[in-house]
Amino acid sequence: MNVNDSERMYSILEMSNFTPVEKPDQASLIIINSCSVREKPVHKVYSEVGTYRDLKKQNPDLLIGVGGCVGQQEKEKLIKNQPLIDFVFGTDAIDELPQTLQTLLGRSSSKDKVISAQFHHREPYHVDTLVRNPGVSTFVNITKGCDNFCTFCVVPFTRGREKSRPMKHVLMDLNGLVKRGVKEVTLLGQNVNSYTSDCGADFADLLKTVAMETGIERIRYTTSHPKDFNQKLMDVMAEHQNKICEYIHLPFQSGNSRILEKMNRGYTREEYLEKIKQIKATIPNVVLSTDIIVGFPGETEEEFQDTVRMVEEVGYETIFAFKYSPRPFTKAARFEEQIDEDIKSERLNRLFDVHDKLSFEWVKKYEGQTLKVLVEKVEGENKLSGRSTQNKVTFFEGPADLVGQTVPVKITRALPNVLRGQLES
Ligand code: 5AD
Ligand code: SF4
Repeated sequence: MNVNDSERMYSILEMSNFTPVEKPDQASLIIINSCSVREKPVHKVYSEVGTYRDLKKQNPDLLIGVGGCVGQQEKEKLIKNQPLIDFVFGTDAIDELPQTLQTLLGRSSSKDKVISAQFHHREPYHVDTLVRNPGVSTFVNITKGCDNFCTFCVVPFTRGREKSRPMKHVLMDLNGLVKRGVKEVTLLGQNVNSYTSDCGADFADLLKTVAMETGIERIRYTTSHPKDFNQKLMDVMAEHQNKICEYIHLPFQSGNSRILEKMNRGYTREEYLEKIKQIKATIPNVVLSTDIIVGFPGETEEEFQDTVRMVEEVGYETIFAFKYSPRPFTKAARFEEQIDEDIKSERLNRLFDVHDKLSFEWVKKYEGQTLKVLVEKVEGENKLSGRSTQNKVTFFEGPADLVGQTVPVKITRALPNVLRGQLES
């Protein structure tokens, strides 16, 4: 979501006659677009801005702004704590960047700061998908915001209530992107499974329509919520495997039902596992990844072990695991029994150890297989990279004119996050 927002910022700024530079010391404008889902990024924003202190001294006209969820969450607090910042804007204020910059350029003193007025969430949900250079693979927003209020999560507060874009707008964007050479799209939302178009179409309907009525060659989506992931969606994926990648990111967060309830996730361990069983039965060769939080308030060692067992049992090729981080406005931040940082770190390390060992084993199955790779980048002379339908980054030798094409690659070496292979003729 953040990468996509940054792309939109780039596009809007280019239309306002800004051009990208290689290094910060060549810049007249620096924007930090940061996520606030965990606490670290907020600290990182302050330290990042701090590194520009000398640049600002040398060039007092340099403008520094902070956007994204950190901007939305911290608002004027950011400028109070770090006066090097000239402006702050929220998640719905990207389109107003030109006006914000206009105001800053016309100010009489560098002490005049701009705090975007757009901290309220806009109606109707508008998003400009005009991206600078969409390349081979790009994102298209289908929903924004979230109504789930998982007790650990700041997103409902930073991105606001859930809104879906009309299906006809999504299709229009996709057709435009296809004309600009895009081959693969990732449909984007905090909880794509609760997508509802104004015409009544649900997410499975949208996916089917994108597969059948647009020229997009490959479709991915993220993120799914297990409570809303239904059989209809699995059936559409199975029916359109030629276009919809067999990769599902399905965060379970915790393998223990008591913790899941405290997280307000809306499913138990057993219900989640049942869904996985259905998915595996419906979509052959499905590849799964997940998000996990360790050290949620009150999590015991046994409850953590349930999470470890889940990783072993389901067989996720990739896990994104995090230490629980208390976030402003959220219920869990006020729960008693917060877990010590040391215990959280130790659990996280143990979880990664277990998963690392297993994933090295699991990915071996790719060695000798021929995968369909969409070529995305030239990595060097006669060196290419792309992703397989399983979402594996694959490196192999081949000519630059293959970028944008889907080619068969025989895998010679498989590591958990990268594959190496040879182009098959
Ligand atoms: N602490 C740690 N991890 C979190 N996530 C969301 N909120 C928190 C938090 N407060 C993780 C979840 C989510 C992913 C995007 O970030 O696992 O799925
Ligand atoms: Fe956050 Fe839960 Fe919404 Fe995901 S579903 S964005 S974790 S509140």
